[in-house]
Amino acid sequence: MSTLTAAPIRHVVEVGQFDRAWLETLFDRADRMRDLPRDADPLRGRILATLFYEPSTRTRLSFESAMLRLGGQVVSTENAREFSSAIKGESVEDTVRIVAGYADAIVIRHHEQGAAARAAAVSPVPVLNGGDGPGEHPTQALLDLYTIRHERGRIDGLRVALVGDLRFGRAARSLALLLGLTHDTELVFVSPPAVPMGDDVRAALDARGVRYRDEPDLARVLPEVDIVYQTRIQRERFATPQEYAASRGVYVIDRAALGRMRPDAVVMHPLPRVDEIAAEVDADPRAAYFRQAQNGVFVRMALLELLLAGD
Ligand code: CP
Repeated sequence: MSTLTAAPIRHVVEVGQFDRAWLETLFDRADRMRDLPRDADPLRGRILATLFYEPSTRTRLSFESAMLRLGGQVVSTENAREFSSAIKGESVEDTVRIVAGYADAIVIRHHEQGAAARAAAVSPVPVLNGGDGPGEHPTQALLDLYTIRHERGRIDGLRVALVGDLRFGRAARSLALLLGLTHDTELVFVSPPAVPMGDDVRAALDARGVRYRDEPDLARVLPEVDIVYQTRIQRERFATPQEYAASRGVYVIDRAALGRMRPDAVVMHPLPRVDEIAAEVDADPRAAYFRQAQNGVFVRMALLELLLAGD
């Protein structure tokens, strides 16, 4: 599943690096971050660089907020594809070598799958993958599983429906892989025909003995599951507008869908959403996606402290 060592973790590139004990440590730390005193500054004097070649609201700003809340500082390029020297032809590797001289850790989001691994391979400081094309989004998966633990009190013994674009959706791909570290979990893949869950993820789940199945009928799945993880159809990854149009709008969580769910179900979404969760769902207590996004700060604080404190 992974070409990287399990521990100690220096760079955060892919979910295959994590093990269960490390997860529990991280989540316990994230719990403590909720109550961190405002004057605590365990990362004072440290600098985080955020190097984003693709747009982001949550990942970039929550990492930056996390660093600032820990007493550290941030340098940032939010449109590195256009406003960094990438536009002049500089490679990711050279950029990272340079930025590593300016900062103690680098969060990178890139449009090419594998770019974060290439960055990590040349970086003397920790590199955190903030999303690499249709590849992985490991810190999103961490905050997603942390949210499941926070909402349901456990991460084992749950049925989870992953809905939407499971082919290009790196958040869903990484969460499926991370659920491979849980026990007695059952996954249901609900996707339009053009964007099924990848064979690489299925093979990793097979290797861990995780049960999964494909079920195109969302209405049938909703009453069965504890977690509904809805995702956006990734318009930017389709070759043509026609292919995108064939996959969008197929699965929508609305009031009628809520009516089919269990009273203790949890509705999640990595966000941003377009039209796959109706606004009428937001007020339902089962709608956890805004709490999920805020959990990103606590999980990323825990991660930065784990990687950088005492470094
Ligand atoms: N969930 C997520 O990655 O959101 P952003 O694209 O806004 O960072």
